Amino acid sequence: MESVQAIKQRFGIIGNTPLLNRAIEKAIQVAPTDISVLVTGESGVGKESIPKIIHQLSHRKHNKYIAVNCGAIPEGTIDSELFGHEKGAFTGATQTRQGYFEVADGGTIFLDEVGELPLTTQVRLLRVLENGEFLKVGSSKVQKTNVRIVAATNVNMFEAIEKEKFREDLYYRLSTVDIHLPPLRERQEDIHLLFRKFASDFALKYKMPTVKLTDSAIQVLAKHRWGGNIRQLRNIAEQLSVLEQNRTITAETLRGYLPTAGTNLPAIIKTSKSESDFSSEREILYKVLFDMKADLNDLKKLTMELMKNGNTKDVEKDNEGLIQKIYGKNKEEETIYENPVQETEVLSIPEHPAEQDEIIDIQDKYHFAEEIEEEETLSLHDKELELIKKSLERHSGKRKLAAAELGISERTLYRKIKQYDL
Ligand SMILES: Nc1ncnc2c1ncn2[C@@H]1O[C@H](COP(=O)(O)OP(=O)(O)OP(=O)(O)O)[C@@H](O)[C@H]1O
Ligand SMILES: [Mg+2]
Repeated sequence: MESVQAIKQRFGIIGNTPLLNRAIEKAIQVAPTDISVLVTGESGVGKESIPKIIHQLSHRKHNKYIAVNCGAIPEGTIDSELFGHEKGAFTGATQTRQGYFEVADGGTIFLDEVGELPLTTQVRLLRVLENGEFLKVGSSKVQKTNVRIVAATNVNMFEAIEKEKFREDLYYRLSTVDIHLPPLRERQEDIHLLFRKFASDFALKYKMPTVKLTDSAIQVLAKHRWGGNIRQLRNIAEQLSVLEQNRTITAETLRGYLPTAGTNLPAIIKTSKSESDFSSEREILYKVLFDMKADLNDLKKLTMELMKNGNTKDVEKDNEGLIQKIYGKNKEEETIYENPVQETEVLSIPEHPAEQDEIIDIQDKYHFAEEIEEEETLSLHDKELELIKKSLERHSGKRKLAAAELGISERTLYRKIKQYDL
């Protein structure tokens, strides 16, 4: 049996908190069985790696692993997605279609956000869990499948049961074993470690020197509530890596990136979290654009001065402030930016395998800058719509890649697509 440490290496999981180690240990123990597992924990704690570990360490590893985000599939199509449909079952069903439970026969299905499943789908799921039987939509022929189910949720399932949104019998079938991932605020010793890993990753991605925290900034990081958990920490590491010229981050600078309001409130609710994720990403883009525009104006001014007044020394003296603003305060800073890669701290932690496809080229990320500038008169909504359209076009409609590029969840992207009728 692989050790917890080896699994962490293999799946790019950072941290050493006993609670995290226990969760991984449980995943290793249940993997060889066919027991249903429910992964619980607040949003952004890293639930998605647990079903991958379970599948990879099981006898099913050579068969299919399908991750389904139950919250992102419209209620009207989810039964057909999961169980398939017969030709003619509904308008538009021109072909018989296999569902995930048929395709993943012999493998594992990860039902993410399982608390969002409609009640009618819950009945179908219960049947599969009980005897492996299911019916395609529009068919009366019982089919059999052998699928291991791992589910995850960030909502309180007991509350959902109380409100009759989730069936109690299904809950107990799904949660034969419960693997709980602790929130980041209960993983004090891991916070700085995770930050360093993300700062190192973003330094490589954006080809800039790694941002480093002062001791007091480390304290601020440790005391923050982290309502959005590791996802929020990662976002902040990215914002600092992109926006801060001074690569040593003080407590004061860091505080500017941490939300102050509502830090004592319970964990952030899913919808508002996704929206705030998006607006902060948009803010980064706009700030980068506006900073670039300001630098460009300063450079234009300087060029004009040089054209009008051939004497470089005079221009340099008269525009000392401007030159410092554009090129930094001293020579040292210039050297850092000329040799960014040598200055990059690289932690000897392997890349998260699941994140390989999320790597976005910085050029790509900002190459629509000019288009946005041309359309300055558009409303914020139009700009958002434009960003989404462009991103979808660039990725030939692949939502996963577009969502990663825009820094939002697939679910939020799906909502935006619906909202804008794309
Ligand atoms: N221990 C860890 N080490 C490194 N990165 C991690 C770790 N845990 C989570 N992450 C990263 O944090 C982000 C959020 O993790 P993940 O998507 O698994 O959250 P989640 O628990 O499924 O949240 P939600 O309930 O909102 O879907 C991902 O980018 C993931 O790679
Ligand atoms: Mg998730």
